[in-house]
Amino acid sequence: MQPILMTFPDAGSMVFGCMGLGGDWNVTSISEEARRASFLALDSALEHGFTLFDHADIYTRGKAEQVFGDYLALQPGLREKILIQTKCAIRFKDDQHVGRYDFSTSYIRQQVEQSLRQLQCGYIDLLMLHRPDPLMDIHEVADVLQALQQEGKVKQFGVSNFGAPQMQLLQSVLAQPLRVNQLEMSLAKIDWLEQNVLTGMVQGTSHFFGYGTVEYCQQHQVQIQAWGSLAQGLFTGGKTPQTEAQRHTADLVRQLAALYQCSPEAIVLGWLMRHPAGIQPVIGTTNPDRIKACAEARTIQLTREHWYALYVASRGQPLP
Ligand SMILES: NC(=O)c1ccc[n+]([C@@H]2O[C@H](COP(=O)([O-])OP(=O)(O)OC[C@H]3O[C@@H](n4cnc5c(N)ncnc54)[C@H](OP(=O)(O)O)[C@@H]3O)[C@@H](O)[C@H]2O)c1
Repeated sequence: MQPILMTFPDAGSMVFGCMGLGGDWNVTSISEEARRASFLALDSALEHGFTLFDHADIYTRGKAEQVFGDYLALQPGLREKILIQTKCAIRFKDDQHVGRYDFSTSYIRQQVEQSLRQLQCGYIDLLMLHRPDPLMDIHEVADVLQALQQEGKVKQFGVSNFGAPQMQLLQSVLAQPLRVNQLEMSLAKIDWLEQNVLTGMVQGTSHFFGYGTVEYCQQHQVQIQAWGSLAQGLFTGGKTPQTEAQRHTADLVRQLAALYQCSPEAIVLGWLMRHPAGIQPVIGTTNPDRIKACAEARTIQLTREHWYALYVASRGQPLP
């Protein structure tokens, strides 16, 4: 099955995650070194075919959007060739810690306007609610999203880290379809598979992802985007595997990369992309060579046998 694309053209099979742009998470201005590194990462992303860029108002405390806006300002015509999505509604309580979520009209509007200023853009292609707010008033959210669309500030909407019932509830009052749900999914984070494969078994109770979330998205043409898709390099040399299962998975990733004549990153991402839900990995690397390595995932399709070999290696025990 082809990936379910967002309605705007050429959303692409992968997303370039911008959380690493702009430097550290302190409330400081962007250093020249961070600006140079961010520009090199964006050059590499564009060179290797990324057209969809994932932001959030909070990334590097606003510096990710700011440095991206500076890059756009230097490249006339680029804005129309790419898609920009961003997220809102997480409030920090101090320099380091998240305080709460806030789906109020005033906060959503304030953050969208801030993102537009930081990105130096007239519109955002897609706005996501970053994490579910238990105090969400669905009618209030519907009204503010509708107003933002009518004002031409946001074209489409999505959510992030939402389960199926929360999406269903919000969708029941929204005038616009939710286009995207962004969730943590990777070869290391496999609860989304385990909870289904272990249905009816006591072992299944230790895996919680949000039952039916993937299926809801498939059924309602909601594009699933996987954050943390590289597992922060756990199977590709970025981190030392800690368990026997992780070591075995990393070995298998290396072997399959040799067999498919591609990078190990392509195997890790290709494993997600092989799923029939048409998952779009969001890659978080800012290293130009690793961006190129990730782009190779578009060129492979794992066999069923190899897909299962990776899944079973990651779970660390045979299937029931
Ligand atoms: N919706 C949400 O709640 C949410 C949460 C988190 C992130 N996100 C989005 O998802 C994107 C990706 O998430 P992520 O950054 O957490 O996950 P990721 O893509 O799995 O990991 C990226 C990080 O791992 C490092 N890494 C990967 N492979 C490596 C290797 N072989 N060797 C050394 N380092 C390696 C990268 O460093 P280098 O830069 O040095 O390569 C980078 O720091 C973010 O940019 C953001 O757009 C969304």
